[in-house]
Amino acid sequence: MPVKVKNVSFSYLVKTPNEVKALDDVSFEIKDNSITTIIGHTGSGKSTIIQLFNALMVPSSGEIEVDDFVITSNPKKNKRIKELRRHIASIFQFPEYQLFEETVEKDVAFGLKNYGMKEPEAIEKAHKALKLVGLDETFYKRSPFELSGGEKRRVAIAGILVLNPDILIMDEPTAGLDPAGTKIVLDLIQSLHNQGKTIILVTHDMNVVLNYATDVIALKNGKVSFDGKPSNLFELSSEDLALEVPPLYAFSKMLYDKGIKVDIENIRTLDDLLNQLKGMKHE
Ligand SMILES: Nc1ncnc2c1ncn2[C@@H]1O[C@H](COP(=O)(O)OP(=O)(O)OP(=O)(O)O)[C@@H](O)[C@H]1O
Ligand SMILES: [Mg+2]
Repeated sequence: MPVKVKNVSFSYLVKTPNEVKALDDVSFEIKDNSITTIIGHTGSGKSTIIQLFNALMVPSSGEIEVDDFVITSNPKKNKRIKELRRHIASIFQFPEYQLFEETVEKDVAFGLKNYGMKEPEAIEKAHKALKLVGLDETFYKRSPFELSGGEKRRVAIAGILVLNPDILIMDEPTAGLDPAGTKIVLDLIQSLHNQGKTIILVTHDMNVVLNYATDVIALKNGKVSFDGKPSNLFELSSEDLALEVPPLYAFSKMLYDKGIKVDIENIRTLDDLLNQLKGMKHE
């Protein structure tokens, strides 16, 4: 079932002189099994909206539906929050700061034990989650603090995957990673998507939007400024949205405008473009 955001507003520091309206009457839907990227300038409300999705904060007005869970401004109405957070789980920026157990496997198993699972079964599930993020048995007994930045990030992601949520929210999951670490995390997102998960991804990187997103929501000053497909987003002039158009998109568009009629909507990677060009007849 999709996530439905209905007329949601949210303010910080309500009834103080410093009150900030971070979200202003926002409505949109996140489709099942989409990779929906949320983009927008710093301060546009991205982190705020995703914290409402699993009721880490509640809207000031409006409501959010996630399956049969409804999150409203009335905390008393927001029942079954623990169940909700297993269904839609979030990975925050720099999740590795939250690692704390003495071994990698215990860290990953922690969440399940929190939901009442016995240790041996939780550890077994932790091993499966570690495999999903590309960490083999040599990592099980290591201390999470002695890993590289990219490995720590993957352990932290495994700690959420182990709960088997249907919807995963990630806030800048590749921030601070090197190109190899970035690719591992993005490939993982793609493979989770292929397994049927819904991914909500906050990113500043327009190449990630082009290569991976099925849908895009752009926020501007707490309002929705775009809701649609990546190729439609980049069709708008970069001035409208003040965003960087990915070089691959710009190049494909230039070819098209010069008469080489590539199918821009289906070009997400350089290979897509090359394959289309190879398939074209010479005139
Ligand atoms: N804890 C807070 N207290 C008061 N104001 C806040 C708080 N957190 C965020 N804000 C304000 O709310 C607005 C939206 O912030 P938010 O963190 O959602 O932006 P963002 O789009 O995630 O930005 P970034 O790209 O920098 O992460 C901003 O004006 C911000 O200053
Ligand atoms: Mg943010």
